[in-house]
Amino acid sequence: MRFFLSAIALLSAVPLLIAAPTAKAPDATQGLPDGLPSPSPSELKIIEQNAHGTLPNGPPPPVISNMGIINLKLIAFNELFEVAFFNELISNITENVDGYRFTDEDVRTKTLSWLKVILAQEELHAIRANDALSHFGVKPVEPCQYKFPVQDFDTAIALASTFTDLVLGTLQDAVERFALGRDVDLAREISSIIGQEGEQQGWFRVLQDKAPSELPFLTTSDLNFAFTAIQAFTVPGTCPNIFEIPLRTFETLNVITPPGPRSEKLTFSFMDTGNETGHQLWMTYINQQNLPIVEPLQVVSRDGGQVRAEALFPYEENEMNGFTIAAVTKSDGPFGDASTVAKWTLAGPGLIIVN
Ligand SMILES: *[C@@H]1O[C@H](CO)[C@@H](O)[C@H](O)[C@H]1NC(C)=O
Ligand SMILES: *[C@@H]1O[C@H](CO)[C@@H](O)[C@H](O)[C@H]1NC(C)=O
Repeated sequence: MRFFLSAIALLSAVPLLIAAPTAKAPDATQGLPDGLPSPSPSELKIIEQNAHGTLPNGPPPPVISNMGIINLKLIAFNELFEVAFFNELISNITENVDGYRFTDEDVRTKTLSWLKVILAQEELHAIRANDALSHFGVKPVEPCQYKFPVQDFDTAIALASTFTDLVLGTLQDAVERFALGRDVDLAREISSIIGQEGEQQGWFRVLQDKAPSELPFLTTSDLNFAFTAIQAFTVPGTCPNIFEIPLRTFETLNVITPPGPRSEKLTFSFMDTGNETGHQLWMTYINQQNLPIVEPLQVVSRDGGQVRAEALFPYEENEMNGFTIAAVTKSDGPFGDASTVAKWTLAGPGLIIVN
């Protein structure tokens, strides 16, 4: 068993499945389930029953900061993507798509029923964020068409684990921004979602034969990293009002050789349209609640704007377990936090999970 994965190079771990081919994949362009993004009152009632709980029934606060609005937009953008993902995963299992067939009927039944709870809970997160935007007179975020780089259950769960780690880090940033904007009530509500996403993550990790609790202090992130990463799962040109989300989109960073639990040189690739590799660049890693780690980046080859480069992944010196965000930065810092890394980022986030 390997101890890493990235959104690009996902590996399966748990042999729950048999490979016999059966039904064809459902139409990937199908819309969101249960009337999303704007369910009717009766659809909402069903979602709440499936979610084992309700939307908060108090009103959103009377005022919100500008940073708070950006938080809500990013959260809605992310939750709509998660709804699409879990909906498609459930369809794949339900329809016994190749790669999504279970050997054990009880395991299949339980897996489907738990995934349906998660789907409905994600639906309520998306609805709540968009309702709050409407309440503040801001246009809700509209869903995109989505595509996922997975063809079987194990890889899908590894991907869910990866984006959930990114969400768990990004919501920390949302809470900090709510705090800076004095959006007290929203900070509390988002904290309740962080715990909820952590519960999901515990199950995804157990499915991969990993300890359910990943780290003592979960890796932090920045809204801009999540905004960029989610776009890897959208079909370009299909997000109707993405331009109303005032966050940065970085160049894509691919982790070509994801690390094991050891210090080693990693190979990355990214686009460099602005010839930034004419100057020295650095690979900066964000792991746990520690100060970002900066390593020199060595360009190996350059083909047009496509760059291949190497940098050390200093695992041993830094106990770099769990989730790590890698970013090609135009400065060697020192960086005090993830937001400063984002300010200097050219390409990222590269998503790495060790153990
Ligand atoms: C569902 O199955 C299809 C066909 O294998 C695949 O392309 C798609 O990525 C799968 N989606 C999920 C979320 O597993
Ligand atoms: C990139 O920048 C370097 C250093 O500034 C320069 O020598 C090189 O010619 C540039 N390459 C391209 C393709 O513009």
